[in-house]
Amino acid sequence: MIQIAILGFGVVGSGTAEVLTENCKLIAERCGDEVCVKYILDLREFPDHPLGDRVVHDINIILNDPEVVLVAEMMGGAHPAYDFTCAALRAGKHVVTSNKEVVATFGVELLELARQNSVSYFFEASVGGGIPIIRPMQTDLASNKILSVSGILNGTTNFILTKMKDEGAEFADALKEAQKNGYAEANPAADVEGLDAARKIVILAALAYGILLDPNKISTEGITKITSLHTAVAEKLGGAVKLIGHTELIDGKVFAHVSPYLVPAQNPISHVDGVFNGILVDANMLGRALFYGAGAGKLPTASAVVADIIDILSNRASDRMSPAWETADAASVADAADYVCRRAVVINGCSGCAEKLQHALGADGYVCVKDGTYAVVSRPLTADAAANAVAAVGLQAVLTLPVLD
Ligand code: HSE
Repeated sequence: MIQIAILGFGVVGSGTAEVLTENCKLIAERCGDEVCVKYILDLREFPDHPLGDRVVHDINIILNDPEVVLVAEMMGGAHPAYDFTCAALRAGKHVVTSNKEVVATFGVELLELARQNSVSYFFEASVGGGIPIIRPMQTDLASNKILSVSGILNGTTNFILTKMKDEGAEFADALKEAQKNGYAEANPAADVEGLDAARKIVILAALAYGILLDPNKISTEGITKITSLHTAVAEKLGGAVKLIGHTELIDGKVFAHVSPYLVPAQNPISHVDGVFNGILVDANMLGRALFYGAGAGKLPTASAVVADIIDILSNRASDRMSPAWETADAASVADAADYVCRRAVVINGCSGCAEKLQHALGADGYVCVKDGTYAVVSRPLTADAAANAVAAVGLQAVLTLPVLD
């Protein structure tokens, strides 16, 4: 019998117990022994749950029990999750987590701590919920240079944008619908302001380039300013508005940001709808690969947590799974102003203005969005170069969006 502990018995924590119970036989076969949840740490009691007798309220009971070899942290939030993770690693226990805030903020230190204590710190469930993405980036893509990673990393905002696209809903109404369906939190700021996606893209950037950026310092724009004009522009240009986390190297330095993009229909990401996530990895030998599936939710996320548990307990894991990341500094972080991409630019004016805009931005043509409103897609430009080119012909953009090619 292998004894483990669960920290946090909310949605993902209780889902992890459910996966371990439901699939106990195959998990035992894969681990070489039965996996038993000896403790559940939570502030609450769960008297009606079959594992309710395992609930404890003191982390030291878990830390001081030598039988517990692994701790699954699913508490959410930075503290005390980070503190308990440090303590568990120091006590020689493996840690797996779904907590993107902790990984994105303290990943460098926690991976180092895991190495120092000869244990593993795994976090497959921290990005893309149940979608395999962390392990594939570390193993299956290991022979590649990663050219870029671009993804729909937040299910709540993708649900809202899909409602806006399919039903012509405005943001506030689509958000209410998301809350009614239980997708968005009562306080949905981390989702709609893009912070959740920012945490996830810095984790993916660290896997791709070995540098962990500060998720609070990367350029992050959410979807609160998206209106029906954005969706109309996307429809006319042939694509969809999506909240994208994107990372690439610019002159050898790491760039990552979160922004609404126009994603043309040729890009498979534009067809990732509803609460689903889609992550497009562009690798120099493989080419493009799309990772698609349930990016949130109880059992999908728990299945990724349990995959990490199995990987560790079956002794298949090794140092390869605990990458050494470095903290970002001025020399390793690209300036967002240097990011070059095509840009959708929208103006109010006449068709003559649209023609001027087309030439100024090196665009192939222009489309009429509605009477007196025109859109073009520029050649690849920095944001400043695009704004200057528009101003140089005496026009003013009413809306601009980067384009994800
Ligand atoms: N709030 C997140 C989302 C949950 O909507 O994607 C999964 O990280």
